Amino acid sequence: MVSTRILGIESSCDETAAAVVADGRDVLSNVVASQVDIHRKYGGVVPELASREHLRRIVPVVREALEQAGLAMRDLDAIAVTRGPGLVGALLVGVTYGKALAMSLAKPLVAVNHIEGHIHAVLLEARGAGREPELPAVCLVVSGGHTVLYRVEREGASGESARQFCYERLGQTRDDAAGEAYDKVARLLALGYPGGPVIDQLVESSSESATPDPGAVRFGSVKIKGNPRDFSFSGLKTAVLYYLRAHPELQPEIDARREALTRGQRKAEQLRPLCSRQTLDLLASFQKAVVEDLVTRTLAAASELGVRTVLVSGGVAANRQLRATFEEEGRVRGIDVLFPSRQLSTDNAAMIAAAAYPKFLAGEHADWELNADPSLRLA
Ligand code: KG4
Ligand code: ZN
Repeated sequence: MVSTRILGIESSCDETAAAVVADGRDVLSNVVASQVDIHRKYGGVVPELASREHLRRIVPVVREALEQAGLAMRDLDAIAVTRGPGLVGALLVGVTYGKALAMSLAKPLVAVNHIEGHIHAVLLEARGAGREPELPAVCLVVSGGHTVLYRVEREGASGESARQFCYERLGQTRDDAAGEAYDKVARLLALGYPGGPVIDQLVESSSESATPDPGAVRFGSVKIKGNPRDFSFSGLKTAVLYYLRAHPELQPEIDARREALTRGQRKAEQLRPLCSRQTLDLLASFQKAVVEDLVTRTLAAASELGVRTVLVSGGVAANRQLRATFEEEGRVRGIDVLFPSRQLSTDNAAMIAAAAYPKFLAGEHADWELNADPSLRLA
């Protein structure tokens, strides 16, 4: 059987990515050019620099994705591109390039929502491993830009790949995204950018030091009026700020780490010797609060809806403690929790090509008027 090969293009934030996926299941190539080194010194993504870098990288990244897949442009069945949400200038690079490519090759163009892409990162890999997840599912998309909870289902009769996916939004963050909270706390403590991966590693037990104590600092659970499926993380970041104000003895080590970062020492193993036990305990307590909140609200939603599958995706889904806690708590409640590999948790284009596959089969093609939509919603 001849397979359907879709080229995905992703440029919504700070990764320029291209990938070729066959039949929404087999990743033939997955190229990601990260701009993190460019944005690091500003402690966050600078939109103008992101657009400029996407412009510089998009052509070589797409070329490499085709080379790695061993394909020529003419072998593609469709071009899929992220239309939003994201930074408008960044999105425009991918949308304009994708449109031009599709037009010149006379191939269909498929527009994809970035959040839908994150959901398909999990579905893609599960399918590749021979197990199509049972739907409906509750899906948590948790990254630097988003913390949203959806109910995911497929329309129509079972069996055909063309059946479209449909989404219902159950809740979302009222303020910061969870990844943003990690990044802001890392900034307060001079742990570099992005903060999530470093904090994740610092709170892991290491052979040289005792495991940090996640019960050392009590943050209290987040109270949310109204929808109990909503999230809020800005209070947690403020609580860390107040803790630091109340503990000026931590300032010298913060200054020492800032110094180390300027020398390019940003790896967890380089920063760990510059972190006191008190700091590691603070980080472990912060992470426990984030993880417990995400896991509790997501699994409660699944139980209330009688759903047995939970999908977790987005940059923060790479977090080891989040994965372990979800798996453990899911097992207790008889809920299957699925994650993408760490590689497909953060932004990539394989997830965009995978999300485009059912749309392509259903003939949902974009026209040449397609424009970037920085505040595009999924539901
Ligand atoms: O999905 P992503 O690559 O980009 C967005 O769409 O935002 O996610 C990046 C976010 C950053 O905030 C980063 O700190 C966080 O994901 N992150 C993590 C981990 N790896 C990345 N947070 C916690 N633990 C991790 N291991
Ligand atoms: Zn993302």
